[in-house]
Amino acid sequence: MTAIDAFLVTTPTETAPVPPARVPARITRAPRAHQPEPTPQAVRDEAHDPTSPELAGRLAAARAQVAARYGVTARRADTVAPQVAAAVAAASDLPRSVLDVQLGHRSVRRFLPGPLPPSVLPTLVAAAQSAPTSSDLQLWSVVAVTDQARRARVADLSGGQDHVRDAPLLLVWVADVARVRALAERRDTAVHATGYLETTVTAFVDAALAAQNAAVAAESLGLGTVYLDGVRDRPEALGAELRLPRGTAPVVGLLVGRPDPARAGRVTPRLPQAVVLHHETYDTARQLRPLAAYERRMAEFYRAEGLDGGWVGRVLTRLRGHGSLRGRERLRSALAALGLPSW
Ligand SMILES: Cc1cc2nc3c(=O)[nH]c(=O)nc-3n(C[C@H](O)[C@H](O)[C@H](O)COP(=O)(O)O)c2cc1C
Repeated sequence: MTAIDAFLVTTPTETAPVPPARVPARITRAPRAHQPEPTPQAVRDEAHDPTSPELAGRLAAARAQVAARYGVTARRADTVAPQVAAAVAAASDLPRSVLDVQLGHRSVRRFLPGPLPPSVLPTLVAAAQSAPTSSDLQLWSVVAVTDQARRARVADLSGGQDHVRDAPLLLVWVADVARVRALAERRDTAVHATGYLETTVTAFVDAALAAQNAAVAAESLGLGTVYLDGVRDRPEALGAELRLPRGTAPVVGLLVGRPDPARAGRVTPRLPQAVVLHHETYDTARQLRPLAAYERRMAEFYRAEGLDGGWVGRVLTRLRGHGSLRGRERLRSALAALGLPSW
C-alpha cells in the first residue's frame, strides 16, 4: 500500500463524527496496567478509526495548525481550508521524514489514471501558502486544471508533452501583481513598483517557493510530480486559455498524480557538493575536477536510460540559444504584453 492509498483510506470526511480532543496528537500512549501492549497494527487501526480519541486529538492539533496559518479560530479551520485539517491529521503518521521525501525525489512522468482525492488540492495549496513570501506580499496565485480538454490544450501550448494530458492535476503557478493593482485602484493609489523587474523577480521567486512546497507535500503523500516550464513557451496564449488577468504571468506548471509503479523513474544524480558549495568565497578552479567525474557518472546514468551523451552536452545544447528554448527567449516582451513590463 502506498502512502496515498493509506491517505485515501484513512482520511476522515467532514461528516465523520469528531469526538472532543482528549489525547496528544501523536501516538505516544503507554500501555495500561494489566493489558497487553497493543500491536503496531492495532494502534494504526485505532488511529484511523474516525471515532477514536487518537484521531480526535490529531484533528484538533491539525485544526490548530490550519487556523494559525489562516489567522482564524480553530472552529473556522474547516471553513477557510476545507478538508486540510483532516488530511494533515491522516498524514501525521506517514512513514517518511521530510528529508526522506526530499532526497528520494524523482520527477514522475507516468501516472495512473483516475482523479485524486478531493482533499489533495486544498492540502497542497495550504502547503504552498505556508512557504515564506517576500515582505508578506504574496505575489502569486495558482490555477488548478483538471479538465481533460483544457489540459490537452495546455499540452499543445507547452511543447506537446504527453504527461500533461495524462496527469489528473495540473497546477499553473502564476506571478501576480494584478491583485495588488486592483487593491491600489480601489484606494486610488499608485503602485509603480509593480512594473519593476525587481517586483517581477520577487513574484517569480514567491511562486517558485510556493510550488516547491506543494511538490514536497505531494511527494510526502506518495504522489508523483513533475514541473512544466513549457507554460512559458507561449505565455500570452496560455494566459488567454486560463483567462489570466493583466498583471499576471505563468511561472511554472506542476503536474501531480499517482505514479505508475510499473514505470517508476530513478533518482537522477546531482553535481557533487564540491562543485556547487563554496566556502566563504566563490572558487571557480575547484569545480573542474569533480565535474569530470560527474560527467562520467551521468553518461553511464543516461546510457542505462537508453539515452546517448552526457550531462555537459545536454546543458550546452539546451542553452545554445537560437530556438533551443522553444520561444522562451522572448519572455521579456511576453511579460510586457501581459502587464509585467519588468523595467
Ligand atoms: C522549473 C522546472 C521546469 C521543468 N520543466 C519540465 C518539463 O517541461 N518537462 C519535463 O518533463 N520535466 C521538467 N522538469 C523536470 C526536470 O527535467 C527534472 O527535475 C530534472 O531532469 C532532474 O530530474 P529529477 O527531477 O527526477 O531529479 C522541470 C523541472 C524544473 C525545476
